[in-house]
Amino acid sequence: MDCCLVSALCWFVGLFLLIHLLAFVFGDADFTLLWASVTGNSPETKLKGLVVWITGASSGIGEELAYQLAKCGSRLILSARREDELNRVRRCCLENSGLHDEDILVLPLDLLERTSHEEKAKAAIQHFGHIDILINNGGRSQRSLCIDTNVDVYQGLMELNFLGTVSITKQVLPEMTRRGTGSIVTVSSVTGLAGVPLSTGYSASKHALQGFFNSLRVELSEYPNILISTVCPGPVQSQIIQNAFTEELNKPLASAGKQEHKMPTSRCVRLMLVGMANGVKEMWIAQQPFLLFYYVWQYAPTLAWFMTDIMGRKRVQNFKAGLDADSGYFSKLKRS
Ligand SMILES: NC(=O)c1ccc[n+]([C@@H]2O[C@H](COP(=O)([O-])OP(=O)(O)OC[C@H]3O[C@@H](n4cnc5c(N)ncnc54)[C@H](OP(=O)(O)O)[C@@H]3O)[C@@H](O)[C@H]2O)c1
Repeated sequence: MDCCLVSALCWFVGLFLLIHLLAFVFGDADFTLLWASVTGNSPETKLKGLVVWITGASSGIGEELAYQLAKCGSRLILSARREDELNRVRRCCLENSGLHDEDILVLPLDLLERTSHEEKAKAAIQHFGHIDILINNGGRSQRSLCIDTNVDVYQGLMELNFLGTVSITKQVLPEMTRRGTGSIVTVSSVTGLAGVPLSTGYSASKHALQGFFNSLRVELSEYPNILISTVCPGPVQSQIIQNAFTEELNKPLASAGKQEHKMPTSRCVRLMLVGMANGVKEMWIAQQPFLLFYYVWQYAPTLAWFMTDIMGRKRVQNFKAGLDADSGYFSKLKRS
């Protein structure tokens, strides 16, 4: 009998490890998020009817968030600078969901214009009565070597990605603490956890966000129904490279390179919604080899530095060859 029990236990442990190994090799998110996607609450049930404010809703991840949330039946506030693009996203949401005109508010805003944020938050709350979820998604990346980069670019990155996000968060937080409920979901990046070449300022701004929201989460521990969540995607298809800061403020990137090798936006956003529906505090979303990188960085930092050197060198080589910085880590250089 004892022997059967031990053998059953061995099989169980073996199966458990095998499932995790396969999930790791073929998965595209951390284990918590992957388990939530299989066994957790569905976004369709949990997010239906909630009021969600999305910044950076005019393209890329924010645009896709609007589409998928509209299909879940969430009511939306769409923000970014380009009002015409926000109106296009709004029309697509209405055409492909059961939402009505009054369920989607287009609220143009510039994250850099912090003095306007109080008035914008008031307008959002006035329209819907409250905000259930703020998704801090708007932001810009960077493609330039530190040695060539003007300090103004570093200031621009911190003003936009860090201070702009903090400013909007501070406008929404008092209302959430008053109600004792709500979620603030912030799109950070793998560069918020690890150092990445060509992105010194971008990575610094995302590290700042990680520090801010990890601290805020603890500060709000007396509000168990307020979720502070950070999302750390690896490379995802969007306009982020075309819009990246370069060596000088207002100097566009010469070539963004091909983006097809990156994770589809729809998959990244689906995983984000799963995380939001299940109260996941930090989400790692990336295909291999990036997923391996998160785990090594978290659990084996000395090995991570070794890997970072190899991947980082390749990233700079790709950039100098006019390719997307993240293309072909394990292949020979081929111009796009
Ligand atoms: N794609 C990736 O590989 C990746 C990976 C990790 C993290 N992320 C993060 O994901 C988020 C979304 O980026 P994305 O990939 O979807 O890039 P994207 O397609 O370039 O979208 C960026 C969004 O931010 C908005 N934005 C830029 N500057 C703004 C400003 N001053 N005020 C208000 N909104 C502004 C843009 O709208 P307007 O131009 O209309 O203002 C746009 O809607 C960013 O925070 C980015 O750091 C992306």
